[in-house]
Amino acid sequence: MEGKTPVRKIYIKTYGCQMNFYDSEKIKALMVKKGYGIADSPGEADFIAVNACSVRKHAEDRAMAFLSSHMPLRKKGARLCLLGCTANLYGEDILKKHPFIDIVCGAGNYERLPEMLGNTKRKTCSAGESENPFIEDPVIACGDISAFVTVTKGCENYCSYCVVPFTRGKLASRKPSDIYAEVRSLAGRGVKEIVLLGQNVNEYGKDSEARFTDLLEKIHNIEGILRIWFLTSHPKDIPDELLLSFKNLPKLYRHLHLPLQSGSDRLLLLMNRRYTLARYLEIIKRAREIAPDITITSDIITGFPSETEKDFEDTVSAVKKIEFDDLFIFKYSERPGTAASGMQNDVPQKEKERRHKVLLDIQEDISLKRNTLFNGRTENVFVVKPSTKKNGCFMGRSEGNKSVIFRASHSAPGTLESVVFNYADRRYLFGASCGGNDK
Ligand code: 5AD
Ligand code: SF4
Repeated sequence: MEGKTPVRKIYIKTYGCQMNFYDSEKIKALMVKKGYGIADSPGEADFIAVNACSVRKHAEDRAMAFLSSHMPLRKKGARLCLLGCTANLYGEDILKKHPFIDIVCGAGNYERLPEMLGNTKRKTCSAGESENPFIEDPVIACGDISAFVTVTKGCENYCSYCVVPFTRGKLASRKPSDIYAEVRSLAGRGVKEIVLLGQNVNEYGKDSEARFTDLLEKIHNIEGILRIWFLTSHPKDIPDELLLSFKNLPKLYRHLHLPLQSGSDRLLLLMNRRYTLARYLEIIKRAREIAPDITITSDIITGFPSETEKDFEDTVSAVKKIEFDDLFIFKYSERPGTAASGMQNDVPQKEKERRHKVLLDIQEDISLKRNTLFNGRTENVFVVKPSTKKNGCFMGRSEGNKSVIFRASHSAPGTLESVVFNYADRRYLFGASCGGNDK
């Protein structure tokens, strides 16, 4: 009896930032188009892949641990693949260092992946820079109300701690027409919220004629889209017209994620960030003038080479002064090839951890204080899903992109609901529907 060849399936585990999660969805779409299936678990997969972030060593270690732990459990003949910027970072060397890996395919090279998986040669690697880093195939997930859309790839800023310029290559802005086509297609499939992604979205168009603010306006006009957000921004590229978008475009979440990294000008210089704390404070002041209730979040690195107690105190005082709505704090991790890897990684791990904890504790109080300011206010909340924590409640996002839990007898994900906030903790605004869907 002649049987059909079973469809070969790939399982992808993702570590890292939104960009990596987005890439994984795009890779799945590409694989399906080429006749592969998507496995729900590693055990049933013919290809077990990790899409691994290279920004900090911790993510890379977890990715490798995942692959090595699945080696003995895998289906007979299944092959292990390393995808993403960690693959770009190490290239073929990874095949020698971790012999359990069979296929290495870096970000920007995914168009070649189906062919690589079809190749029976056991070890293959493709991790160079590519002409076309964008995968245009639409993602396959249906029923989602929210989607990421990449607008730029790569970065040439060379912040001294950062591996991205080495792994993701030169800045490349995606064609506006391709971006609109993707957003329109997503809107047609019921997506209501778009998150525009890039290592530094504000450099969108630097390599072409397009402008980021035009992009925002045009996406704002696409029917069906209710909410838009973008990340990440760099303080050296924040023109006034971008800040004005927070006032002029009502669908845009009033939320700016603006990594500060350090409050010490000495360290900002060593980090090659190209702004001073004073310039950063000016941007925050202007943003709050334009949109007084804007949510501002940031990234900080503790224990960068040579960070003294005084440098750290400058960061603490900047954090207290600015009062971010939320803060992502990272312990410095030395990355190969970066300028900082040539500096002495001289802050002991324990001290990095202590500084990290000090900032976390300070931020807890500030976040609570900032969230409490919303008590008594009414906003149009973007409804995400029924709350898993509280019966009769829904989870959503405020106009400033804060997480909200609100009571309503019924409500629909992907709609806007007028909610009055009456209580806050460090993570959530709590409230009740004012009517609308709650009739
Ligand atoms: N070590 C620690 N944190 C880092 N980041 C980037 N590179 C490193 C590194 N080598 C942080 C920065 C950046 C965020 C995405 O990750 O704060 O804004
Ligand atoms: Fe890395 Fe700096 Fe580029 Fe951000 S702007 S990706 S931190 S080099």
